[in-house]
Amino acid sequence: MSKVVITFGTFDVFHVGHLRILEKARALGSRLVVGVSTDELSFKKKRRAPVYSQDERYEIVSALKYVDECFFEERLEDKGLYISRYKAGLLVMGNDWQGKFDNYREFCEVVYLPRTESISTTAIIEKIQG
Ligand code: CTP
Repeated sequence: MSKVVITFGTFDVFHVGHLRILEKARALGSRLVVGVSTDELSFKKKRRAPVYSQDERYEIVSALKYVDECFFEERLEDKGLYISRYKAGLLVMGNDWQGKFDNYREFCEVVYLPRTESISTTAIIEKIQG
């Protein structure tokens, strides 16, 4: 049975937590589509500019073997539109978003996966800044 899985994120300063959630998401279906936040959307979510530009983040995520297709996520509120555009049967998010996307259950299944512990873009930036 073919199932399109969709997920979203900024994926700035790409790290192993990002890789693992994409690997796990891909394993839940036959195709993985990833919405990469634009710089503007990412700024709205995190209150800081991404280190890597949206084009660089898109290029990195698109090159991964677990990822079949990428698009830019421009607006958080458009997730329903993206889910139907890409005919996604499953929305996967990390459990830092637990419960936040339950309203999309009317469009598709929604699964929250455990985050990889002890790593995040924010922690990496703070570590580098000393
Ligand atoms: N993610 C994960 N494990 C981590 C970090 C992120 O599974 N240790 C997942 C998130 O749950 C999300 C996706 O990766 O589904 C993209 O997360 P993103 O916000 O881009 O990365 P973070 O490292 O969480 O970024 P930040 O520290 O800026 O919030």
